[in-house]
Amino acid sequence: MAEVKKIIGWFGAKRGVQFDVTEDLVGGCAYDAHGTPLTDATMAKAQEVDAVLLGAVGGPKYDKLDFSVKPERGLLRLRKEMDLFSNLRPAQCFDALADFSSLKKEVVAGLDIVIVRELTSGVYFGEPRGIFMEGNERVGINTQRYTESEIARVARSAFELARKRGNKVCSMEKANVMESGILWRDVVQEIHDKEYPDVELSHMYADAGAMQLCRWPKQFDVIVTDNLFGDLLSDAAAMLTGSLGMLPSASLGAPMANGRPKALYEPVHGSAPDIAGTGKANPIACILSFAMALRYSFDMGDEATRVEKAVEKVLADGVRTADLLGPEGGSPVSTSVMGDKILAALDASL
Ligand code: NAD
Ligand code: IPM
Ligand code: MN
Repeated sequence: MAEVKKIIGWFGAKRGVQFDVTEDLVGGCAYDAHGTPLTDATMAKAQEVDAVLLGAVGGPKYDKLDFSVKPERGLLRLRKEMDLFSNLRPAQCFDALADFSSLKKEVVAGLDIVIVRELTSGVYFGEPRGIFMEGNERVGINTQRYTESEIARVARSAFELARKRGNKVCSMEKANVMESGILWRDVVQEIHDKEYPDVELSHMYADAGAMQLCRWPKQFDVIVTDNLFGDLLSDAAAMLTGSLGMLPSASLGAPMANGRPKALYEPVHGSAPDIAGTGKANPIACILSFAMALRYSFDMGDEATRVEKAVEKVLADGVRTADLLGPEGGSPVSTSVMGDKILAALDASL
C-alpha cells in the first residue's frame, strides 16, 4: 500500500490530479485497535467514497480468533454490504515474465484473460451454516445458494466486459452434480440468448475448466463463475502470469449517483505472512489494482494504461522482486525499490 501511496502522490505532483485519500483499518489491525475486524464507522465511510483500495487481511496471529471476528469477516462484510457482486480478476502475462511461469512459454506468452467471480453469494454466504451437534458428533455445514437474479447480474457484467474485449464468455459450474450449477447454466444461457446473442458463449464444468486453464489458457477470454470456484480458479490463473504478487482485482457493484459503480480494489493475494514486514513483497498487484481504480472508478483509462505500461517497462528492464526470480536466483529488489522504479518509469512516460 505504501508503494501505491507514492503513485497517488505522483499523480498529484506530475499530473495535477489530486485524490482525496482517507485511511482506515480492516482485518487484524482493526481487531487489535477496536476488537472488531471492521467498525461500523469504517463500513459507513466505505459506502460513501468513490473507491476503496484494500491491502490484505489475515494472518496466523488471528487464526484462533472466534470465527465472527476473524480478519476475513471484515473483508467479507465490505463485499456484502457494498453489494460488490462482480469481481474482475484479470490474468495477463507480461512478455518479460513469459519465461518465468511454471508453464511453458508458448502456453502463457500474450495471455490476457479475465475471471469474473461472483462475490456476494454462493457458499460463502448461504444459510444454513455453522458447526452443529448431530447425535454425539459435530457437523460442519455451508450452503451453496444462488437466486436467478444473482446469477443474471453477474452474467450480464461478464457479457458486457466480453463485448469490450474478445467477445467470448465461458461459464463454469458443476451442473453435473449441483442443482445450483444447473440453475447457473440455465440462467447464463437465457441472459445470453435474450440480451447478448452476439457474444460467443460456452459452458464448462469447473473441474475441467481448471484443467483447461493449465492446458491452454489462451482459449479463454472472459470466464464467469461462482464465488468459490472463482476463488480457486483465480489463484491458479495467477501462476500463469508468474506470481500471485502480480494479480490485481476490481470488485464492482451497482452504479452510484455519479454513474460509476460502487467499487473496491484489491490484490488477489493475501497478507503473505511468510514474508510480511521483510520488504520482499511484490507491490505490483496492489499498484495494478490502483490502475483498475483509475479505469473503472475515475474514468481515467489512459492514465490506467500509463501505470500498466510503466509496470511493463520495469519488468522488461529486468527489475524483479524475489517472487519473480526462479530457483537459480538473481538479485531481487525490495518492495520500495520496485515502487521507485515504477515511479521513474512513470516520469519517463511524460
Ligand atoms: P497469500 O496470498 O497471503 O500467500 C500465498 C503465497 O504467495 C505466500 O508464499 C506469499 O509469500 C506469496 N505472496 C503473496 N503475495 C505476494 C506478494 N505481493 N509478493 C510476493 N509474494 C507474495 O495466501 P495465504 O498464505 O494462503 O494466506 C495468508 C493470509 O492472507 C490468510 O489469513 C488468508 O485468509 C489471507 N488472505 C487474504 C486475502 C485478502 O485480503 N484479499 C486474500 C487471500 C488470502
Ligand atoms: C480472496 C481471498 C478471500 C476469499 C478471503 C481472504 C476471504 O482468498 O480474496 O481471494 O476467499 O474470497
Ligand atoms: Mn483467494
